[in-house]
Amino acid sequence: MEKKRNSFGGSLGFVLAAAGSAVGLGNIWRFPYLAARNGGGLFIVIYVILALTFGYTLLSSEVAIGRKTKQSPLTAYSKLGKKGFGFLGVLSCIVPMLIMPYYSAIGGWLLKYFGMFVSGKGLETASDTFFSGFITGTWQPIVFHVIFFAATAFVVIRGVNKGIESLSKILMPILLIMVIGIAIFSITIRHKDADGTIRTGLQGLKILFIPDFSGLTVKQFFTTLMDAMGQLFFSISVAMGIMVAYGSYVPDNDNLDKSVRRIELFDTAVALLAGVMVIPAVYVFMGNEGLEASGPSLLFVSLPKVFSQMGTAGHVVGAIFFAMVIFAALTSSISILEAVVSSFMDAFGWSRKKAVIVESLIALVGGIVVCLGYNVFYFELKLPTGSTGQILDILDYISNSALMPIVAIATCILVGWFTGPKMVIEEVEKTGNKMTRKHMFIVVVKFLAPVLLFVLFLKSIGVLKII
Ligand code: ALA
Repeated sequence: MEKKRNSFGGSLGFVLAAAGSAVGLGNIWRFPYLAARNGGGLFIVIYVILALTFGYTLLSSEVAIGRKTKQSPLTAYSKLGKKGFGFLGVLSCIVPMLIMPYYSAIGGWLLKYFGMFVSGKGLETASDTFFSGFITGTWQPIVFHVIFFAATAFVVIRGVNKGIESLSKILMPILLIMVIGIAIFSITIRHKDADGTIRTGLQGLKILFIPDFSGLTVKQFFTTLMDAMGQLFFSISVAMGIMVAYGSYVPDNDNLDKSVRRIELFDTAVALLAGVMVIPAVYVFMGNEGLEASGPSLLFVSLPKVFSQMGTAGHVVGAIFFAMVIFAALTSSISILEAVVSSFMDAFGWSRKKAVIVESLIALVGGIVVCLGYNVFYFELKLPTGSTGQILDILDYISNSALMPIVAIATCILVGWFTGPKMVIEEVEKTGNKMTRKHMFIVVVKFLAPVLLFVLFLKSIGVLKII
């Protein structure tokens, strides 16, 4: 007897679960520092345009493939009946398996910081050595990783309805309120330096949003374009199997176009709001140098310094901030685990429990190796992107920079040239609604996306150095 497939209770449940997946560390951590690194305004303009075109195209394609085949990524692509694309399913399952361990390790770091702020020791996190001292420790990062992963697995084992959908319905509205609250707070602050310079949140907001084209070179423009593109994939959770898995749980009467537009809106709004939370605050207390220096250390090094400068309020703001990031990371981490679990269930006929246990063992061990990458397994490897990395960065590089562009390119080729865009359009229009950006979708999926994604891929693997 065929088991009944899990399904979301309704459109709201799907949108909030998918938005929960999309809104994560990508939005709150990477988006602000990439925006800062690329000079703010221009990056944001490019990002929003890409989200409305490429984002919409890939999100619609993946959700439609999931719903049409009623399969998770590992088996969905081969079920479309086009020979030679089975590898896409395998890659779409491998990508979340690679991301899971390091996402959970970072989730553990967030728990540690949250713990520091609620126990009144938040100021200690502002010292220059706190972060490196913590991650190079032997036990603590492992313990926090295991706790974060256990919370993720607990939700996934409860299933799509009772676990993922129920939690998303509670956490996502709370998260949105927190993000808006902190963003408003951030633009209202002002600070006077020892030398008397006064900086305000509104000035920081201008840096974030107003494009500065002075001295812009072609090379810089392409770097910004490529950064925005890479960020977009990670942020909307495409090319990592997740949206195919979630799409397979969407009821047949759901208006997919409307849902995709809502997910897109939620994710982009939170990314922009994260910029508004972070950039003005860092600018007010640390000036332009603070913004330039931040990079990936933004969340764990720069922001704690900002909170420490806020005095007593900093404890409360810091605790709320890290709680909010934990919510965002948890709903994403759940979706990453679900992509693998649902793949195992569909491909091997396993029960949910068995699939969760097997992937948990892999992810827990993987996460421990990631944590130990900062002490016993420490080494420095030069990546093709030019940066030096440890185990975490290597997993991030293989998944994000190498495999995800391949998945995205192959998906566009499959949809654009083999099944034809009509496969997605028919699925989206099945309920009698129109696919709002149909013509754009066809042009992007057939021509624009494969070409630009190929350039991104060449740049990621270090072949294309000029841009
Ligand atoms: N989309 C998730 C994030 O932004 C994976 O973190």
